[in-house]
Order: sequence, then C-alpha cells, then structure tokens
Amino acid sequence: MSRYGMALVGSGSAVPITSVSNQQLSERVDTNDEWIRTRTGIGARRICNPEEPLTALATKAAEAALEHAGWKAEDLDLILMATSSPDDLFGTAPRVQGALGARQAVAFDLTAACSGFLFALITAGQYLRSGAMRRALVIGADQLSRWVDWDDRTTCVLFGDAAAAVAVEACPAEEDGLLGFRMHSDGSRNGCLTLAQSETHHSVLSGVSAQRGGFEPLRMNGQEVYKFAVREVPAVLKELLESTGISADQLDWLLLHQANQRILDAVADRFQIPHERVLSNLSNYGNTSAATIPLMLDEAVKDGRVKSGDLIASSGFGAGLSWGGALLRWSGPA
Ligand code: UT7
Repeated sequence: MSRYGMALVGSGSAVPITSVSNQQLSERVDTNDEWIRTRTGIGARRICNPEEPLTALATKAAEAALEHAGWKAEDLDLILMATSSPDDLFGTAPRVQGALGARQAVAFDLTAACSGFLFALITAGQYLRSGAMRRALVIGADQLSRWVDWDDRTTCVLFGDAAAAVAVEACPAEEDGLLGFRMHSDGSRNGCLTLAQSETHHSVLSGVSAQRGGFEPLRMNGQEVYKFAVREVPAVLKELLESTGISADQLDWLLLHQANQRILDAVADRFQIPHERVLSNLSNYGNTSAATIPLMLDEAVKDGRVKSGDLIASSGFGAGLSWGGALLRWSGPA
C-alpha cells in the first residue's frame, strides 16, 4: 500500500453568461419544453460567447478552485484538463497554466468525453499516491456547442458548456479521499457516440493527397447510449461497493455524470438511494460533458449540501464508449 492518498480539498466552477431555454430552442428545431423536460430533465443550458471561450472559462474555474483550497498557482505540480472540445488540439491545459501563472506545473489534456473528469481525477490520484507530485488541479471543461448540429433536435437540446475544477493534494494514506475506482472502455461500440474527424481529402502535390483537418458534428444513437448507461453504471458502482466493502446506505451522495434525469433516477432506484441524496443540476445546465461532475460537486459544496467527510459515489459514462466509477471522500472547506 502506498504511503500517500489523495485528498479533495477545493473546488471551483465557471459557466457562460448566456442561458438558452428549451423554448428558445423550439424556435430553431421541432421540439418543445415538455418533451425536453420529461425525457431528459433539462430546462436550460449555457452557451459560450466569442469573448469567453473554453480557456477563459477553465481558467476562471481553476482560479476559483485555487482560492477555495487556499493555494497559490505556483503551488501546483500538475494541471490535468479533461476536455473533448479543446481550444487547441495540441492541448488547452498549457494555455490555462500560462493564464494562471502556474510555472511549476506540468499541464496536459486528457480526452475521454463524459468520463473524462473521473478518468483525470483517478489519473491525478496516481501521481499523488506514488509520491511523485504533491498538488494538482483536475479540470473538466467542454464547449460542445461548437460541435453539436444545431439542426439535429435529437442532440442539440442535450448539451451545454461549462468548466469546473477540483484541487487535490497528497495526504497520508489513511486519509485517502479516493477509496476505490474502476475504469472501462468498449471501443467496439464507438459508433454510438462520435465527434469524428471528417473524411475530406485534398490534393497537396501531384499524386499526394492529405486529409483536411476538421470534424463532423456530434452524432449519437441516444437509445443505445441510454441502454448502455443504465446497464453499466449500476454494474460499475456495484463492483466498487463490493471491492471497498461499503454499502449503498453508507453513501452520503450519488454524483453521476449529468446526462439525463431518468438515468440518475434509474441508478438511484437500483441501489435504493433516496432521491434527495442524488445530486442533480441538469435542469439548469444540461449535459456539459467532462464538466458535469465537478460543476455539480462545486455547487453542492458551496451551498453546504456536501460537507467535509461526506462519502460520494461517482460515475462518468459516455463516448468511447467509456465508463468508470470512484468512491470519493470530500475533505475540503465549505
Ligand atoms: O453524455 C454522454 C451520455 N449520453 C447519454 O447518456 C444520453 C443517453 N440517451 C438519452 O438520454 C435519451 O436516449 C435521449 C434523451 C437522447 C432521447 O430520449 P428517448 O426517450 O430515448 O427518445 P427517442 O430517441 O426514443 O425518441 C422518441 C421520439 C422520436 O420520435 P418518434 O420516432 O417516436 O416519432 C424522436 O424523433 O422523440 C423524438 N424526439 C424529439 N421530439 C421532440 C427526439 N428528440 C426530440 C426533441 N424534441 N428534441
């Protein structure tokens, strides 16, 4: 067993100022507030303005998490940014590092769609537990409004933009806030949810053609992804509970990727977790991909629901297909 654990000690978030209601979307596509609310639980979503792209949003969230933890940017060893919609395909985390002035930190992106934040948190945990690093910021940030097809009612109503961050630090192993984790991928089902490179080629020299950079809009087989989520999320949480010897009634909170209220309810029912212990804010923000879990956590910490010492079962799931779970103990300030 490692000498160190990972303590979750601060959080922060930032959302764009522009909120778009279901009613507004019905002016563009054939949809309505009632369908979106009853099928998904979503009432509104935020959309990034040109003046505030992802880097700015992620930097704001990171600054808020640093302040909450009582850290300076120079204290950071690592900035890990989970995103599938970067400002720069070479990496958006270094832009955030530059904006923060976190000179000592190595900064890089991690892409695992809606599982990204959880995968990044678990990854950061390995550096802290091994003793290689002391302090890290894990950011979940996505601007999927860039990539949705605004004429496809089956997807454009679901997604929103946001950024959120959690500050984590090495602590004695007995105080580890990462009690257990599991991560899975199934690339054979990759086609269910894609944001794929487009297949256009152009001639660059005589006899030489190259692919032109650019992506197709986000495409999803909603029913398949729904079935996958309600099967795999309970399975991974069950695995986690069994491996850690923790029972569902010991959990203070269920904190799932915010994709659909019906998925949250189905998973809670499966473990007989009362709905008041299920964290949900998708009515305000929709599915913000890698940002949903830290955005929800930050809201619940700041409004006093999640308290120091609380035990949280979390699960992320989505494109890849990928999914995972973690049992977490919050130890930050209110
Ligand atoms: O973050 C990554 C993980 N993502 C997820 O977990 C998403 C999982 N999937 C879902 O949450 C749900 O499948 C959706 C919310 C995407 C769709 O809900 P559904 O209950 O599975 O609806 P459906 O796809 O079966 O469509 C039912 C009907 C269809 O019409 P017909 O064929 O029955 O006439 C759709 O064309 O609803 C129609 N429909 C809409 N109607 C009004 C689809 N989208 C809309 C819409 N407004 N926006």
